[in-house]
Amino acid sequence: MMRVAILISGGGSNMVRLVETMQAEGYATPVLVASNDAAAAGLDKAARMGVPTAAIDHRPFGRDRAAFEAELLKPILAARPDVVCLAGFMRVLTPEFVTRFAGRMLNIHPSLLPKYPGLHTHQRALEAGDAEAGCTVHEVTPVLDDGPILGQARVAILPDDTPETLAARVLTREHLLYPEVLRRFTRGERIRIEL
Ligand code: GAR
Repeated sequence: MMRVAILISGGGSNMVRLVETMQAEGYATPVLVASNDAAAAGLDKAARMGVPTAAIDHRPFGRDRAAFEAELLKPILAARPDVVCLAGFMRVLTPEFVTRFAGRMLNIHPSLLPKYPGLHTHQRALEAGDAEAGCTVHEVTPVLDDGPILGQARVAILPDDTPETLAARVLTREHLLYPEVLRRFTRGERIRIEL
């Protein structure tokens, strides 16, 4: 059974969906939920679902990403994951960290990559006058929000949308897309899916 560690920074709704589906279907085992913020609401949710948690505050490390990552790595290595899922993890990881998990680290991003890597994706899609938005699950490589795309889900942009309403509509699709990609990934399927 594949072991899955999940990194979060906030509410962790994607993490909850990943853990719920793993626990309900048994396609993988959630072995750790780690956050760079001890106040992340997702940590409590993970603990209530019986998943071990770890919090490594990035702030004391300032700009020293390598020192932060050295601490973050400890609980991750101790959990011996086969796959690491970034789920709303809002720290940029160094190439050294990413390379350590090459081919077995996934990320969900709230845009139709390669459009809008980085932040404020929904606002940028609205400002561009796009007809549709969506989310992408991809393999993580050292380039931010790059890497082979494993799945995308699309939603229409509506005339009255704000960044908040659009984000909420995209998030409902994230909750379906990420478990579906992880399910397939744990079976060794690397094909690109559209939901
Ligand atoms: C999600 O929309 C995810 O796609 C996004 O943060 C949100 C986390 O929500 N991730 C990024 O922007 C990564 N750069 P959640 O904590 O409820 O899963």
